[in-house]
Amino acid sequence: MGIGKKLLLSGVKPTGRPHIGNYFGAMKQFVALQSEYDSIFFIADYHALTTLHDPVKLAEYTLGVALDYLAIGLDPKRALIFKQSDIPAHTELAWIFNCITAMPYLLRGHAYKDAEAKNEEVTVGTFDYPMLMAADILLYDTDVVPVGQDQKQHLEFARDTAEKFNRLFGETFKLPEPHIVSEVAAVPGLDGRKMSKSYDNTIPLFADDDEIERLVMSIVTDSKGEREPKDPAADTVFALHRLVSAGQLDELKKRYEEGTIGYKESKEILAENMKKFAAPLREKRRELEEKPEYAKDALAQGAEVARKKSEEKMKEVRRKVGVAL
Ligand code: ADP
Ligand code: TRP
Repeated sequence: MGIGKKLLLSGVKPTGRPHIGNYFGAMKQFVALQSEYDSIFFIADYHALTTLHDPVKLAEYTLGVALDYLAIGLDPKRALIFKQSDIPAHTELAWIFNCITAMPYLLRGHAYKDAEAKNEEVTVGTFDYPMLMAADILLYDTDVVPVGQDQKQHLEFARDTAEKFNRLFGETFKLPEPHIVSEVAAVPGLDGRKMSKSYDNTIPLFADDDEIERLVMSIVTDSKGEREPKDPAADTVFALHRLVSAGQLDELKKRYEEGTIGYKESKEILAENMKKFAAPLREKRRELEEKPEYAKDALAQGAEVARKKSEEKMKEVRRKVGVAL
């Protein structure tokens, strides 16, 4: 890790296959950030356990995230990569935070309120999710956390918790700042809503060519005929062109506005470009999948470094709260 660089930390929950919204909205930016910051990217498997109770799937998704990130270019030599459950300090510190946090304060959590509003059975883990996340962040003296809209409140909880601890037990934790990820407009899904696993409208990042073709051809458009002028700003196909058809954008825009391209042709071009974009990533992931020891070793080595760092911090924390004799 470099000298004098700020520390950036982010966690990703292993809950399924990543889609191109995840890639352009978050993953791709992590790859760029690893050169700018000292970086920690970890897999939040204990956060996933709050809602995922299938051990085969949890293990598969966890290794899957490691493969995904290595495939897109996160480099274990530059960034610290590990999984949360390998570092006992995360849950230990979360417990300490539980003991200084008021119930009514956590009742304000969006994620908890949403789960309750949906009449889901809310586990204690879901309720307590923000405290584990605060521990993830504060353990490593993190300077910045890249956050999208949905995670802003969690970062506020982490800052409040750091302040509360510092007030009670003396200056111990740094207050993390949000790193606002460059404003990527939300990537739309097949039905025009925001692409999301929960809407089942995604194009998986590592889809094969047939799947890409089938999904792209199923994108919902309006019913304008081939020769009618079209508004590129109102079309999902065009929004996806922006991500993968850089060299052809001006021409496509012109043809949309003039009414010299139909949605079918536009989709065919998109499918071709999407396949070209996905192929090298998919190839890289397939290579990594064939030798999973590489990813597992990377996680194990990352965990060793993270354990040392976190243990140093925990020594101080245990002393400050009075459990170290
Ligand atoms: P999902 O909605 O599919 O469950 P997550 O909530 O797990 O996705 O998101 C993981 C990361 O990907 C977050 O940083 C989020 O901001 C980003 N992301 C998810 N969907 C999109 C999208 N459609 N456009 C841009 N970024 C997205
Ligand atoms: N809650 C985050 C999400 O759902 C995942 C996460 C867990 C995280 N711990 C973190 C993100 C710490 C940033 C920092 O996407």
